[in-house]
Parts: sequence; structure tokens; C-alpha cells
Amino acid sequence: MSPDRTWNASAEDARRKALDQVRRTPGYLSDREARFLFLLGALAPGSGDVLEIGSFKGRSTVALASGVQWRGEGIVHAVDPHTAPSPTDPDLKGSTTTWDDFTDNIRDAGLTSLVRAQRAFSQDIAPAFGGLLRVLWIDGEHTTTGARRDLTLFRPFLIPGAIVAMHDVLGTWEGSLRVFCEDVLAGDDFGAAGFCGSIGWAQFLPGQGGALGHRFRRRLLAIPAGQLIPVAASGRGLVGLNKLRYKIWRPLAPHGEVNPARWLDRIEHGTTRGSGPRLTACWGLLRRSDEAGS
Ligand SMILES: C[S@@+](CC[C@H](N)C(=O)[O-])C[C@H]1O[C@@H](n2cnc3c(N)ncnc32)[C@H](O)[C@@H]1O
Repeated sequence: MSPDRTWNASAEDARRKALDQVRRTPGYLSDREARFLFLLGALAPGSGDVLEIGSFKGRSTVALASGVQWRGEGIVHAVDPHTAPSPTDPDLKGSTTTWDDFTDNIRDAGLTSLVRAQRAFSQDIAPAFGGLLRVLWIDGEHTTTGARRDLTLFRPFLIPGAIVAMHDVLGTWEGSLRVFCEDVLAGDDFGAAGFCGSIGWAQFLPGQGGALGHRFRRRLLAIPAGQLIPVAASGRGLVGLNKLRYKIWRPLAPHGEVNPARWLDRIEHGTTRGSGPRLTACWGLLRRSDEAGS
């Protein structure tokens, strides 16, 4: 664990080893995206857990949990019904579940004690979910209804400063892209934001995201991303005018490798870098009194 919560040689080394394990785990995540998820698991601010919606065979779970392991604090809640066919992965090549592969892969990575797997739909566990989250990773149902429901249902569990990351927001999945543009980039409850591969991420900063700088940068990101919505919505794939539109607008949404040190400088860490636990405790108390009063 790094007590000062900065990116250092030990984090770099742990991430390199984690990437080997990620590559051995089948799934839908590029190396660049896996490196970013490790960074979130390791250094997203505050005290709390990570929630993954949509684990499949555990590729992103390994990236996130390896980061959490390096941090030495918290766990990953990994939620997926592991049933097939699912609208997001219609092809399991004859198999009816990803559960056995998932548990094997997490065990092979030596991460079983850090992953609390729930074999369920996210919407079914939300009412009884009791944790506080510093990372919410949404990679489950990619429809507008599904992605919006995941964000809405788990938003109350985010601590201020938490990172929300959604997959497939710069591809041809209309739902994830639309929800990231309309509910995250357009919402003043989020501060710094960006893309890494096809991951869209933003820092949850209720009451602060309306600051001009944050709002301006989020609006800027929403311009090219929003231009991809008609491409995804057409359902015709990347042909003809769709292809042209995609080729013009996607590069204008910066989505390259994220530099950990620069990323840490961009996000808020509370009043000081050590204030995460205090912030989290206050937020927990506020939420509890809110629930008691409702
Ligand atoms: C694209 S895959 C996830 C890929 C995975 N994150 C990886 O790194 O390879 C989507 C997964 O979401 C799951 N899923 C679909 N709807 C869900 C829901 N409502 N709650 C939780 N998981 C869901 C599917 O079962 C499928 O395994």
C-alpha cells in the first residue's frame, strides 16, 4: 500500500504484473483500458469500495481488484447474473454461463479474497446494497434504460470524489454513450471527466461540478461524443456516412493513454490528499440521517 497515495515505482510494477493477468483473462477490455481501471482501483480518492456491474469472465474485475490489492484497502463488488444469452454478449459458444470461468479466473489471479461476487442483476441488488463507493464501473446492460438505471440506482452510494466509469461510450452502443453524455457530461454533479479508450469517466462532485472550468471542459467533451449518438442509434454499423461521421468525430474526443500522475493532478482529493476518510465518514453520516428522515 502507498500511504501517500501517489503513483510510484511500486504501483507501476504492480500494474505491469496485473496486466499480464488481465491478458490471460478473456473479455472485453483493451490494455489501455485495463491500465486505467488499475489506476482507479489503486488511486481513486476516498475510503470505500469498488462496484463493478458486468463482470463477464473477470477481465475488468482483475484490473480493478489488482489496483485495490496494491492499495491495501477495500474490495470489489462484482455483480453479474452470469447467464446467457445476454443482450451484451449473445455468443457464449454453446455455454450457458460465465460463472465457472469467472471464479476460476479470479482464483488464478489470486484475488478471490478481494472480490465479492454477486450472481445477480444489478437492479436486484441495489435496494439492499449497503456500501460506500469510491469507484462505480458500469459495463452491464448497454441499453439507455439499463445504463441509466445503473447510474441512478447506485449514485446514492457514491462518496463525494468517487469516480464513475462507463464502458463502450465511444463505440456503437447507443445506451452507454447517450447516458454518459446526457447524465454525466451534462450534469453539474460531476467535475473532471475524460475518456480512455472507449471508457468514459467523471468525478462525482455534488455541488461543485457547476464550476465554470469543470462545466466548460465537460461540455467540450460532449460535442464530439454527442456526434456519435446518431451513428450508434442508427443500428447500421460503421458503413457509409456513419463511418465518415465516426472517423471525423471520434478522434476529436481525446481517448488516449491516461498518465497516472497527471490524472491525479486533475481530480479533487478533498481539502488535502489525506482527507478521504474524513469526507467519507461525513457523507456516510449525512446519508444515514437522510434515510432516517425519509
Ligand atoms: C460486456 S460484458 C462485461 C465485460 C467485462 N467487464 C470484461 O471486462 O470483459 C457485459 C456483462 O454484463 C452482464 N449484465 C447484463 N445486464 C446486467 C445487469 N443488469 N446487471 C449486472 N450485469 C449485467 C452480462 O451478463 C455480461 O456478462
